[in-house]
Amino acid sequence: MGGSGGVLIEERHDAVALLRLNRPEARNALSPELRAALCEALARLDRDQGVRCIVIAGDDEHFAAGADIAQLNERELPDLLQEPGGASLWDALARCRTPLIAAVSGYALGGGCELALACDMIVASETAQFGQPEIRLGIIPGGGGTQRLARVIGKQRAMELVLTGRRIPADEAYALGFVNRVVAADRWLEEALELARSVARRAPLAARLGKQAVLAADEMPLSAGLEHERRLFELAMATEDRREGTRAFLEKRRPEFRGR
Ligand code: COA
Repeated sequence: MGGSGGVLIEERHDAVALLRLNRPEARNALSPELRAALCEALARLDRDQGVRCIVIAGDDEHFAAGADIAQLNERELPDLLQEPGGASLWDALARCRTPLIAAVSGYALGGGCELALACDMIVASETAQFGQPEIRLGIIPGGGGTQRLARVIGKQRAMELVLTGRRIPADEAYALGFVNRVVAADRWLEEALELARSVARRAPLAARLGKQAVLAADEMPLSAGLEHERRLFELAMATEDRREGTRAFLEKRRPEFRGR
């Protein structure tokens, strides 16, 4: 949570909220404390009408090194089965209606890679390395890695990463369609914030509806997806922002979207 000493540092850049993972001593591994702080921040920021886009970032060397292996080492099956499933970080990310951007520099491994994949877009530094190394520990990804990777980069390539634990560098991730852009090592955070600002300047309700519509593409057959899109389009047509957007265009001025 906020404050320079916490495991999650929160900053506000106008309508963009920046969440920075801050456990450098453990390479930003996702400890229960860090996951809980992320869940709390995502739920709160998602309710805040002043926040139109959320950026999740680590530091120059590490986005996140995955689950905390020291804690993983202690866990047994009964502990896992007793965890409240609905309260997990992965559910909190899925519930977040505000557009999410992962700003990745350095390692995004295991749960770190899954965290980036659970965001709506990924901006990668040229130093970024992605991977699902769980197999090297005798386990498999458990935060959506196998499912999202297969959808994003295709079955064969996901299979290779999940079965070998091989890391892929930023340029390969870009070629695979895994990241939106690769930027210079000293520009990753600024470029991610700039992308977030350009989302934040748009009509916020339409941005949420657009996010929901695109995500539905993974869940639905085409005919149902098109029907769903139509309903969301009608909702967008009913907003005040739609009137403002079309009027501003005709009056040759910038629209002032209010999120209504
Ligand atoms: N969980 C807990 N601690 C971790 C961690 C993790 N996922 N990843 C790194 N750390 C800790 C190390 O134990 C080490 O602690 P120490 O200083 O007390 O010895 C410290 O962070 C530095 O790690 P180190 O491996 O020396 O750093 P590096 O810069 O050489 O390598 C990584 C960085 C991320 C490549 C490497 O730490 C790594 O492969 N981590 C594990 C990634 C992984 O398997 N994730 C999936 C988990 S399911």
